[in-house]
Amino acid sequence: MIFKGKPTVTSTKEVNFVKQFIKMNILIIGSGGREHTFAWKMKQSPYAEKIFVIPGNAGTASIAINLNLDVLDFEGIKKAVIQNAIELVIVGPEVPLVEGLRDFFENDKILKFVRFIGPAAAAAQLEGSKEFAKHFMSRQNIPTAAYQSFDKTQLPAAFAFLESLQPPYVLKADGLAAGKGVLILDDINEAKQELRAILLDAKFGKAGQKVVIEEFLNGIELSVFVLSDGEHYMILPSAKDYKRIGEGDTGLNTGGMGAVSPVPFATADFLNKVEKRIVIPTIKGLKEQNLPYKGFIFIGLMKVGDDPYVIEYNVRMGDPETEVVIPRIENDFLKLLLAVSDGQLHKMDLRINPQTAATVVVVSGGYPEAYEKHKTISGLENVTDSLVFHAGTAFKDGAVVSTGGRVLAVTALGNDHKEALKKAYTSIDKIAFDKMYFRKDLGFDL
Ligand code: AMP
Ligand code: GLY
Repeated sequence: MIFKGKPTVTSTKEVNFVKQFIKMNILIIGSGGREHTFAWKMKQSPYAEKIFVIPGNAGTASIAINLNLDVLDFEGIKKAVIQNAIELVIVGPEVPLVEGLRDFFENDKILKFVRFIGPAAAAAQLEGSKEFAKHFMSRQNIPTAAYQSFDKTQLPAAFAFLESLQPPYVLKADGLAAGKGVLILDDINEAKQELRAILLDAKFGKAGQKVVIEEFLNGIELSVFVLSDGEHYMILPSAKDYKRIGEGDTGLNTGGMGAVSPVPFATADFLNKVEKRIVIPTIKGLKEQNLPYKGFIFIGLMKVGDDPYVIEYNVRMGDPETEVVIPRIENDFLKLLLAVSDGQLHKMDLRINPQTAATVVVVSGGYPEAYEKHKTISGLENVTDSLVFHAGTAFKDGAVVSTGGRVLAVTALGNDHKEALKKAYTSIDKIAFDKMYFRKDLGFDL
């Protein structure tokens, strides 16, 4: 039996099961705009005592305590959790989840008592293996592009399958490839050549030991976010991100150049289909396949005509989608996550700010290819009507400097996406660093 987390914009009486808790220390794992947003939201909870971030950035350092550890240093994380009496851990990025950080906690005689937001490695395969995700969807009858998967011993069969499809051809490396493992090609010979490069020449390393070949879906993309406590679910606001570096959605793919929430074309009727055809069967499938899931599920969708198809699952929140989804949530974030870890999500009412949130990502010139670091960022203190979430930043000699490709995500709220974006752009005008770049056309397609 699946119970629903009653999402509603009007606050009804929330069951105050959290009253039993006293203040607690919290650890957020990751270093991007997503993790700064988590820390900012968590900071507003009266139940949050100290907030730690591993490893964090200059933004998290100003509101929390950064611990300089690698997100894959499980023993180091264990020490930090014990030393700092941490009672709740939230994992931002996928890699520690796919590598089994939750399993490490569950199998440790001390850490198993610590609440943990994020799935175990077995369920994280939804993101860690495209073949696993496609098999899962096909078992649960979840709408997704038709596909087959192949390894290096099956090249002739893979070529035959390619020939049975219409162009463009979609090739996906099975494993994690930092967002680079998907190729979309118009020409069949080029598709065959790339397939050979992935399977035989290890173009994507181990991630490409298997390849999923799938049908091309023609439509418009958006993402829906779900919180699951293993039994119940809650659908969070939808968002659309802008992945390409160039205006008009041109040029190379990036981690994300901006996002908007809600998505104007995600009508109530469409979201209803998403819930019935995708969210409910996903939660049911996880239970049936004995994959207990406490955490965020990011469902990447293609809207084809009026129907949703799943492009991918991620086992975490998106970045920069978090920077528009979380600021619209009016609930106490800590209470919401405690409800996730305690299997009490059905007792929570989700309260959403009806305004539109937009975020514009400011990057180092050259990104996603080579770029320079250690540029001093000025003007941050002059921003008053937007939220500035840090991504690749650090403090150096009292100044904030850039340390990554994506440097900042500037979020504003407005009555529609135009108003929100205008505010975000006005705020960005007050910020400067050498070779800074951002897209000025976000929302052009809405
Ligand atoms: P993924 O890493 O699975 O999110 O894929 C990266 C991008 O490739 C997606 O965001 C889509 O824009 C595109 N894509 C992936 N699969 C398909 C598909 N079957 N049809 C059309 N576009 C796709
Ligand atoms: N913005 C896409 C992602 O977080 O994967």
